[in-house]
Amino acid sequence: MVSTAKIGGVTVEGRSIVFASGKGGTGKTTVVANLGVALAQFGKEVIVIDADITMANLSLILGMEDIPVTLHDVLAREADLRDAIYEGPAGVKVIPGGLSLEKIKKAKPERLRELIREISQMGDFILIDAPAGLEITSVTALLIGKELIVVTNPEISAITDSLKTKLVAEKLGTLPLGAVLNRVTNEKTELTKEEIEAILEVPVLAIIPEDPEVKRASAYGVPLVVKNPTSPAAIAIKQLAAKLAGIRWQPPEPESPIKRVFRALFGGKRR
Ligand SMILES: Nc1ncnc2c1ncn2[C@@H]1O[C@H](COP(=O)(O)OP(=O)(O)O)[C@@H](O)[C@H]1O
Ligand SMILES: [Mg+2]
Repeated sequence: MVSTAKIGGVTVEGRSIVFASGKGGTGKTTVVANLGVALAQFGKEVIVIDADITMANLSLILGMEDIPVTLHDVLAREADLRDAIYEGPAGVKVIPGGLSLEKIKKAKPERLRELIREISQMGDFILIDAPAGLEITSVTALLIGKELIVVTNPEISAITDSLKTKLVAEKLGTLPLGAVLNRVTNEKTELTKEEIEAILEVPVLAIIPEDPEVKRASAYGVPLVVKNPTSPAAIAIKQLAAKLAGIRWQPPEPESPIKRVFRALFGGKRR
């Protein structure tokens, strides 16, 4: 049995949201990791799950090393669920995937659903980082959340793939909440929010700009919302967190150049 005490004694069944995309590399892992931390910073009990069995990298973005027990071990019934729950930045709980090929072969995706039911008792938000595409593991990940958010880039090829993902999710009974547009540059070739909403028939919940700070933060192994909370992508993700949690949140005023110089000279860890 799962020890609820370990995760703060919360027994309320939370919202479980799958973050999926048709195409790989749209930013699912970045969004799930940072959204999870942002929700935790807002005081929510959050569990992020790496369900991307083939490309498990959620824990890397969250700067977690030394993760002996992963979702793979639990799926293969080689470990207990509570041993695969780790504490990440801002108190977010992380259930990591594993990186070993041997374990990937052993993993049984069917067991995921059963596990998610257990996990969904544990927090306010369960965020699931799904694999891209519509392979069996991706479809399984769509099944395990009650709600779906598609993470897409504003290009026609990504949008049409996202539409397929959304339609499959609907068929499976997973409710599409909306889309997150990531790596938005506002170039003329990009589809607009309105065009994307018309194609996907769901609201756009967040527009996250292309932001070099995203890669910088992941190189440091520190989530962007912790490393650089005033960067444009971090602000967009925090706004999404506030929206999902039903919290009113105003982004901080941009820092004046004089203040920035003072902070660089006399304090603040900004490197
Ligand atoms: N808003 C952004 N601005 C700049 N780079 C980004 C942004 N979002 C994601 N990336 C980068 O894009 C790549 C893919 O992101 P990732 O979250 O791993 O995608 P996925 O999980 O969908 O495969 C990573 O190198 C990541 O750092
Ligand atoms: Mg990923």
